[in-house]
Amino acid sequence: MSFTLPDLPYAYDALKPFLSKETLEYHHDKHHEAYVTKANDLLEKSGLEDKSLEDVVKLSHGKNVQLFNNAAQHFNHVEYWKSMKPNGGGKIPGTLEKALIESFGSVDKMKKELGEAATSQFGSGWAWLAVKDEKVFIQKTSDAENPLIFGAKPLLAMDVWEHTYYIDYRNQRPNYVKAFMESLVNWDYAAENYDKAIKLFQKAA
Ligand SMILES: [Fe+2]
Repeated sequence: MSFTLPDLPYAYDALKPFLSKETLEYHHDKHHEAYVTKANDLLEKSGLEDKSLEDVVKLSHGKNVQLFNNAAQHFNHVEYWKSMKPNGGGKIPGTLEKALIESFGSVDKMKKELGEAATSQFGSGWAWLAVKDEKVFIQKTSDAENPLIFGAKPLLAMDVWEHTYYIDYRNQRPNYVKAFMESLVNWDYAAENYDKAIKLFQKAA
């Protein structure tokens, strides 16, 4: 098998004014595309050619650094595009809201922690809302790393590599993080992921 670059789930200008058309064109058509192309080159003769993307990410981690970096960045970006939507923010669906209150005490506390993780990640990386064994938690990861390699399932991905925000926010990552949390985040997608992950964890138990 080989990996393919999916289209954005919305138009290039659909996230304006929070992320510009120029940002999404560069980020999707240049950065994400390059990860897909390199991952496909590295997948050949890796011994993992018949595996799913998630399995390639998990199995290459710590063993094949280049393949891991590019396959994981492909996975992470697919999650990132779906973690945003035009007119994002707003209400969190009931089942996820209940789980967030159980895990964090309140939705506001979760939002504050996720924002802080994204802002404080040193250098390139990601901030995640993830679930493992029915517990929802926040994680920040460096470079291409993600919750999969810790046995967890991501619910929401926030890219904090500089290529994500430099055109629109220059060096002001906190302003991008604020826009993501208030106006871009797709809670419906996080809730869908939560429902799927819970079923998987319950089946495995
Ligand atoms: Fe990115």
